[in-house]
Amino acid sequence: MSREKWGTKLGFMLAAMGSAVGLGNIWRFSFVAGNNGGGAFLLLYLLFVILIAVPLLLTEVSIGRRAQSDVVGSYKKLAPGTPWFLSGFFGVFSAFLILGFYCVVAGWSIYYFWNYLTGYFSTQPEAGYGAAFGEFTSHSWQPLFWVALFMTLTIIIVVSGVKKGIESANKIFMPLLAIILIILAFYSLSFEGASEGVRFLFSPDWSAFSDPGIYIAALGQAFFSLSLGMGAMLTYGSYLSNDHKLPGATIGIGLMDSFFAIISGIVIFPAVFAFGIDPASGPPLVFITLPTIFEQIPFGGIVGLVFFFALVLAALSSSISILEVPTAYFMRIFNWSRRFSSILTGAIMFVLGIIVSLGFGIWAGVTPIGENNILDSMDYIASNVLLPLGGLSMALFVGWYFTKEQALDATDFTGSRVGNVWYVIIKFVAPISILLIFLNALGIL
Ligand code: PHE
Ligand code: NA
Repeated sequence: MSREKWGTKLGFMLAAMGSAVGLGNIWRFSFVAGNNGGGAFLLLYLLFVILIAVPLLLTEVSIGRRAQSDVVGSYKKLAPGTPWFLSGFFGVFSAFLILGFYCVVAGWSIYYFWNYLTGYFSTQPEAGYGAAFGEFTSHSWQPLFWVALFMTLTIIIVVSGVKKGIESANKIFMPLLAIILIILAFYSLSFEGASEGVRFLFSPDWSAFSDPGIYIAALGQAFFSLSLGMGAMLTYGSYLSNDHKLPGATIGIGLMDSFFAIISGIVIFPAVFAFGIDPASGPPLVFITLPTIFEQIPFGGIVGLVFFFALVLAALSSSISILEVPTAYFMRIFNWSRRFSSILTGAIMFVLGIIVSLGFGIWAGVTPIGENNILDSMDYIASNVLLPLGGLSMALFVGWYFTKEQALDATDFTGSRVGNVWYVIIKFVAPISILLIFLNALGIL
């Protein structure tokens, strides 16, 4: 059976942007920025996106396109008889970890959509939005219904194949999400006390840079947000043929993704300060802040409805790219059908989702890493450790295992001056930066 292909380059672009833009830009970006001092974090995050993540995105996509195989198979094909394929296993493993918690947050988003549909969230519940969120997420089985629904939708799209399932939905809903966010940003900025939130997000507190945690947090967010380091972009690249030029596409994806992150920050933080919400509330942050904004603005109930609908679709176009990584891998090695492979993989992720969800209820006291609950711990390992490690090995693979000619050829950079800059980045700058940030986080540096 021949492998699937994108219909057009635009199809690839939409799918890759769909993968990048998701809960990471709104939910994760906000709480990680809130936990890490705002402005200082944003500055480092943008620096890492430009200096490390976008060049690596090009690297990752080009590995997949050249090999035309999944994350493990690509290494096996391009470097037969070497241990490079082991880094592909990290990617498959990360996919389980990430979708294991992503599906829970996406499930919450569907629940919020539902509550705007019924009108329940259009006015503040008696105990407040914060309490309503806590009550819902700590329930043992209620959130699981929505998580199951989200995983089912993800599987259905992945079963129907990369092209049909993935390409079309993004065309409508990404622009819609952008428009809603821009409108919300204006409202948020108009609240009394909003300027403190603007200052929080845009004027760095320089003393924050002495905290080692902020570097790894910014690096992890850059990787997570660009879907980098676990093979999602590699797998999408493998459905691309050679006649499409890559560098421009990856810069476009980076710009788009950063735009969504910054605009969400402008929506969230002014409101956070205007309504006296703690910016360091962690993962619940947007689920408390957004309804509070919607309650204040005209037609807020409808805006909330459309917003959470668009957010769920953004989450879906990301989750399918995560599920696609192990699905494509198992299809090849076990000769499974796309249907069987994605259902089995998705079911295992759902089981992880049950564990994560219970971490907000009966297992709230379970803190695998430091003070972090189950979701935060899985997120920390996957986003701050495994994704950067995956990216590091991709950089080393193309920077050192490939010849310079092969590397430039794989990325459509032959004879280009920018290509030389890119090459220096992935050969030296990115690997060294990632290593330094790791050593720093470990307290060695
Ligand atoms: N980039 C996605 C988001 O921001 C999440 C994601 C991570 C997708 C890793 C694929 C791989 O929501
Ligand atoms: Na993102």
